[in-house]
Amino acid sequence: MTSIDLTTSAPASVLLVDDDRSTLELLGHVLGLQGFDVSLAITPEEAIHLLQTIQVDAVVTDVHFDGFEGGERVLGACRELQPDVVVILMTGYPAVEGAVSAIKGGALDYLIKPVDPVVLGAMVHRALRERKLGREEGQLEFTELVDILSEMVANTIERVDPYTAGHGERTRKYCRILAEGFGMDPQTLERLELAAIAHDYGKIYLEDLGFLTKAGPLTPDEYREVQKHPALGASKLGNHPHLEEVCRFVAEHHEKFDGTGYPHRLKGEEISLPGRILGVVEVFDSLSTKRSYKDIWPLEKTLDFFQAQRGRAFDPEVLDSFVDLLKVNGEEWMTAPQEDLLAAGVIRPEDGK
Ligand SMILES: [Fe+2]
Repeated sequence: MTSIDLTTSAPASVLLVDDDRSTLELLGHVLGLQGFDVSLAITPEEAIHLLQTIQVDAVVTDVHFDGFEGGERVLGACRELQPDVVVILMTGYPAVEGAVSAIKGGALDYLIKPVDPVVLGAMVHRALRERKLGREEGQLEFTELVDILSEMVANTIERVDPYTAGHGERTRKYCRILAEGFGMDPQTLERLELAAIAHDYGKIYLEDLGFLTKAGPLTPDEYREVQKHPALGASKLGNHPHLEEVCRFVAEHHEKFDGTGYPHRLKGEEISLPGRILGVVEVFDSLSTKRSYKDIWPLEKTLDFFQAQRGRAFDPEVLDSFVDLLKVNGEEWMTAPQEDLLAAGVIRPEDGK
């Protein structure tokens, strides 16, 4: 049997969800023979858990589970966790309103049980082909859209403080690598990446932007003013439900593990894991960058500082993992800021040391 893959060299993957085990196994068997890589779930909870852990191309779900409308929950989880996925609902209780609300909720199609597995396979195949054609016609994928908007946010922050050129993107990259080591789920990871890009967004709303680029230390008043930026950023990013966690991580990026940070003096695990990761990474990249008020710190000096702040500013476990990463990537990550500042025209080659 040939593969039905339409997007990559791997077979297209389908998650089947039904509380009737015999239906599930029959559909799974036939779709498997048609070349799909099939996963099965017997409850909406199981399906949601799978959506949190594996990437799928299509979801085919029953609507009614032991008398409750679990299909809508699966549909909602698809929109939330894997917005690009093709969704097909199946039900044994035909109702026009149900079909209308399913399509409004984002399901591609609605089938009345018993579902013919061969027809279902053809429908999934067609839906994936249409999705691929849509992409080829120039539709942006969600991740591409995020990249474009992220760059706009980063450029806005860099405009008020040119020395932060590339800081958001580098912080995003190192956060992703560090968070993957902690086995972070894809959705939280995505939100951490957005927070990494936008962590200093609040700076553009400060009353006085002049001191952001001033040479030398800040006055106590200026320092108080600059301390407003995490909470300001979190409040200005927007109130879309998807941004709720992003805003939390942004607000936390200057909190310290021992409770001496700002704005809320949160302590230990009161700070989210993404917030603790962002806190360590952001400081590393700032120390390894030339700023208006400081020179580049050599890697050794940064490592000494990290060691002194282990359990004080930084979560020891997060810090140790990051230091392990620096042993491998440290030299490369030390040169990255200078390259970005040169490319942005903020420094000249002779200033790069
Ligand atoms: Fe900051």
